[in-house]
Order: sequence, then structure tokens, then C-alpha cells
Amino acid sequence: MIFEQIATGGCQSYLIGCDQSCVAALIDPELSQIDHYLALAAREGVRLRYLIDTHTHADHFSATRELARRLDLPVVMHRASPAPFVDMRIGDGEMVVLGKLRLQAIHTPGHTADSMCLLVDDRIFTGDTLLIGATGRTDLPSGDPEQLYDSLFNKVLKLDPALKVYPAHDYKGRSHSTIGDEIATNPRLQKRDRAEFVEMMRNLNLTMPTHITEALRTNMSGGKTVASLLAEATSAVPFMSLAELKSRVEAGEDDLIVLDVRERDAYEAGHIPGARLLPRGQLELRVNQDLPDPTRRILACCELGYISTLAAATLRSMGFVRAVALDGGMKAWREAGYPLRSGKEA
Ligand SMILES: [Fe+2]
Repeated sequence: MIFEQIATGGCQSYLIGCDQSCVAALIDPELSQIDHYLALAAREGVRLRYLIDTHTHADHFSATRELARRLDLPVVMHRASPAPFVDMRIGDGEMVVLGKLRLQAIHTPGHTADSMCLLVDDRIFTGDTLLIGATGRTDLPSGDPEQLYDSLFNKVLKLDPALKVYPAHDYKGRSHSTIGDEIATNPRLQKRDRAEFVEMMRNLNLTMPTHITEALRTNMSGGKTVASLLAEATSAVPFMSLAELKSRVEAGEDDLIVLDVRERDAYEAGHIPGARLLPRGQLELRVNQDLPDPTRRILACCELGYISTLAAATLRSMGFVRAVALDGGMKAWREAGYPLRSGKEA
């Protein structure tokens, strides 16, 4: 068996593969680790065959959709998953075949309605159903403490005590434990009475995960994260440094159009000498009138450098072949003491 555990903060993801057939699957891959997974698969000499999420994650961005798009691979989830892009929906007791390996799904609702654990040889990937020294929470969308009780006490904890437990999260740097260890020492599992367990889960009063809205939106729909949109734009445009732009502005270079894409009040409070105003929100609608020559060199700037990157990428996609973005924004420009002009340009 080929096996790699990849930690991203507290999130745990896994590459598991068959060394005889040279095929592998990713379990709970995270968006920021895509290059890492591809490098690991190449290093291990395996071809990825499946992208599996143990459940709809509310606290991190799943990479399954993006990897499926890039590699033309199926996304596998439990059939209760609300995500429309799941290619292979599986049910309790069904298996994904991976060379000589068999990944058997056990439906374990509770943390979410679509949670499943995956049993493979001597180990079980428990998602957020069973964590080391804890359980998944049940207060997020589709969570249910009654169901988690059944999933744990009537399913997972009845498995072989020697099974190694690999969860989707661990915040203390531990890699795994065993079913037996969890039964013996996991504080939440000491509440063996259903009512007591449910009462405990209902009163944990945990803070909401950061990015929960965005994580649920993107994981349930396959939509893009803000960070992905920015990364795509960044990879599609060249940049110019603040110092380079300053020297060109001071030299009076007239080949360069500096396009300030902030709102009018910000522009009039202080802009780069000679900059034109074209707010990002009006860019597509005013571009034909304001920028008639698509071969001109256009530099987009904004307050922090993010919106201008998106604007430059939009301009490039519209055929402005020399659009670039400022590496930094007006905030950095002001802080550097570089020249400013206020009011309207003559
Ligand atoms: Fe989760």
C-alpha cells in the first residue's frame, strides 16, 4: 500500500494507492495543496484515479472539483452529498476499487448528513465522524447529534479495536490513533448513554469555523473561492513595481496609460499623476469608449492591488494585450511618499 498523510493546518488529507497497480486516490484533498498532491503522486509513481470527500466540508476548501477538472477524474462522495458535481455517488457498504485495494464506504451521518468513513485494510478514514480525542461537531448545516451517536456507537466503534483511525482533522500534530484507543480515552466517547451524549453535543458552544460561508458555498456548488479567482488573475497578468512606475511617471512616459480602477472619491482624494479614472464596476461597459486602442500599454492600479489584478486580467481577456497590474496599490504608493495629484485630471 502506498500511503501519504498531508496536513494543512489542522486539516488532514491522504494519498492512498496500490503499489502493484500504480493507481491511487486522494481523500479529503485541500485546495491549497494541489501542487503538493500532484508532486507526491509523481514521486510515488502512481496515477490518480479517484478524488474522494468524506463529507461536505464547512471549514476548508475542497480540491476535488478543481482536480477533477484538471485531470478528468471522478469525484466520489456519499449519495447524500448536495454537491451537483459529484460523479460517483456511493452508498453504505459499497466499495471503490483501487487496484488490489478496496475502499469500503460506511455511511456515518451526524457531523453532516453525507458523512462517510472509508475502511481500507488495517485502517479507517473517519472524516469528521471520529477525531483523535474528539468527534466532529453536530451544530453545522445537516449535523445531528442523534445520528452521530448511532454512527459512532452502533457502527464505527463496533469495528476491530486494532483498526488505525485517520481523521480529517487533527489540530495537535498527531497522525492517527486506533479504535481501541479512542474507546478507552476519547472524552466524548465516555458518554455512552444516548441522551447524555446528545446533551453534551448540543452544549459544546463551539465558535463557527472561519470562512464557513465561503467553504460551504464553494464545496456545495463547485464555485470558485476568492483566493482562487485572485490566483488565476495573478497568473494571467504581468506586474510593474511601484518604483518602476514612479520612474516612468516622472520621466513623463506617454506610452503608458495608468488606469485607476477605484471609485471617484478615492481617485480625487489622491491619484498617480496622469492616471485616468475608470472604476472597476464600470470597466466592461466603458472600455470601448475610454480605451479605443487595445494595443496600448495599460497599467491598472487600485487601493491594495487585488482589484487592479482582476481588472488587468479582465482587460487581457478582452484583448488588451499589454494590460499589466501594479505590484502593490495606492496605499503603498502613498506610504512610499511617491507623487500624488488630487481632484480631476486636466
Ligand atoms: Fe467537517
